[in-house]
Amino acid sequence: MRTNYCGLIDSKYLDQDVNLFGWVHRRRDHGGVIFIDLRDREGVVQVVCDPDNADAFQVGDRARSEYVLSITGRVRRRPEGTVNDSLISGEIEILAKNIEILNTSETPPFPLDEDEPSEMVRLENRVFDLRRPQMQKNLRLRSRVSKFLRDFLDQNGFIDVETPFLYKSTPEGAREFLVPSRMHDGQFYALPQSPQLFKQMLMVAGFDRYYQVVKCFRDEDLRADRQPEFTQIDIETSFLDEKEIRDIMENMVRSCFKETLQVGLPDTFPVMTFDEVMRLYGSDKPDLRIPLQFTEVTDLMKKEEFKVFRSAADLIDGRVVALRVPGGSEISRKQIDDYTDFVGIYGAKGLAYIKVNDISLGIDGLQSPIIKFMSEEVVLKVMELSDAKSGDIVFFGADKATIVNDALGALREKLGHDLNLVEAGWKPLWVVDFPMFEYDEQSNQWAARHHPFTAPKDGHDRHIETSPGEAYSKAYDMVLNGWEIGGGSVRIHQPDIQEKVFRALKITPDDQQAKFGFLLDSLKWGAPPHGGIAFGLDRMVTLMCGASSIRDVIAFPKTQRGQDLLTGAPSAVPESQLRDLHIRLRGTVKTAESDKTAD
Ligand code: AMO
Ligand code: AMP
Repeated sequence: MRTNYCGLIDSKYLDQDVNLFGWVHRRRDHGGVIFIDLRDREGVVQVVCDPDNADAFQVGDRARSEYVLSITGRVRRRPEGTVNDSLISGEIEILAKNIEILNTSETPPFPLDEDEPSEMVRLENRVFDLRRPQMQKNLRLRSRVSKFLRDFLDQNGFIDVETPFLYKSTPEGAREFLVPSRMHDGQFYALPQSPQLFKQMLMVAGFDRYYQVVKCFRDEDLRADRQPEFTQIDIETSFLDEKEIRDIMENMVRSCFKETLQVGLPDTFPVMTFDEVMRLYGSDKPDLRIPLQFTEVTDLMKKEEFKVFRSAADLIDGRVVALRVPGGSEISRKQIDDYTDFVGIYGAKGLAYIKVNDISLGIDGLQSPIIKFMSEEVVLKVMELSDAKSGDIVFFGADKATIVNDALGALREKLGHDLNLVEAGWKPLWVVDFPMFEYDEQSNQWAARHHPFTAPKDGHDRHIETSPGEAYSKAYDMVLNGWEIGGGSVRIHQPDIQEKVFRALKITPDDQQAKFGFLLDSLKWGAPPHGGIAFGLDRMVTLMCGASSIRDVIAFPKTQRGQDLLTGAPSAVPESQLRDLHIRLRGTVKTAESDKTAD
């Protein structure tokens, strides 16, 4: 029987006998005395094998890194000068009486007590990687957060209901993963991108408050904050309006940070409209820890001769903004070239700038390749509007608004990090009043910005079919330090408005019935007004752990290319299995059997 976890033994246990189980973290031979750092999930404790006890000494001598040991010993104070303040067990050590090797280990793929190896090596050896104390800490925080959220929702009357994973293909935004049906030749299930329509139907069914901690599946391009399968805290309520839903959710997130991280988030989260955040930051998930803002100069540039700015300002969807960076006049020519390349990634054709050497000298105190093309009046007006001071630099973006927003929005964040302007702490934000639709240039069609079940703002349903660009919705996102951690909306509960939205999205009545008939039908049976939200648990915990990728808070994640390097998924399957599923592969794709014969 274990009496204690290794990492939790402290001087309270002095002179007591303890039984410990754990792994050999490190073994050192100090001229006749062997020291073993024994590790379990709570941390390490130092075990001393003294040659006076020949049996224990011999076994300790055979132990190697990652061997599994059972140790019985006496807790004693460490000799003066050898105390380690960074460990709970740092004041004590265990004098081994008896040691048993429960299992040996091959030489580990990398040492646990040195710097992190590459992520590739970590993911290939994930089981071992998960032994790293940081990973243990991350997953335990994840467990606490998820437990807290479940308890909070339970205490607030939300009912945990499971919804299917084998679902019907229903376009919601991202590409779906399909699962072929064996019993129905040529037919497929889709894995749900979210339980969106099920939770709405649970509201029609009268459950009033629903939640689920649930896996969602999206076959999309992956990034540091995206996985093909990820976990949502998925929530829906009936009879509450936007503000009431946001208040409960804000309270939940605030309490969660307090309880699990001892962090106090603000008593009320700031609320900004979509238009406002785009105007000031060019992003719908601005990192408010970065104290940089855009200055709108589009109208000003309509009078200006400088072609780059004038032609952008004259576009229907054009925009010209200035981004003032305090202290930025120190930025070198070479760095400006690098930033110009950086905004190029987002489609910007250049990055004009003005360095402010001495604002008191007016135009003579400014330095820039573009001011010779511009009128003094406009240049000075830009300086005034952006509140430029000596020592600053002002960058400019001029193009279609989408390009300016993407390019300068990203530049704003990059400059914030490069110049150490990011303020410490936590900056949550609600972004509200999103447009219902966005125009998709590739398909030349309107697409739902959130999802097509989002309710229009009061009075905006009249724009849905006539001028979709003017229809705003009751959607809201929770943003934290530049990450969208949750998104939701009040839903459409009237079938006629839902059909209107489908028509605006050019979904024909036949298609509406085929794809969403089940939703439209259930809305006819007295659907209550309802709404909800889903939080990205992986993202929330990533931020809480201070990790840089959501892969660090997921036990068995996929790579950027959607592979599981531990198990080797995805993988080819035998021809016989495909035959059962009525599937024949196209072209040169190999099955598992043809792979084998190819060797
Ligand atoms: P949405 O698509 O905004 O809304 O997703 C909700 C939250 O889930 C997280 N998230 C992701 N996390 C990791 N990897 C991904 N690929 C990924 N995609 C999304 C984000 C996001 O804020 N059904 C609606 C919710 C609703 O309206 O109630 C939905 O799924 O943190
Ligand atoms: P050009 O006339 O192309 O030589 O550009 C003059 C200056 O304007 C250079 O500093 C460019 O980097 C900058 N510039 C060009 N196009 C844009 C743009 N679309 N937005 C912002 N700056 C630009």
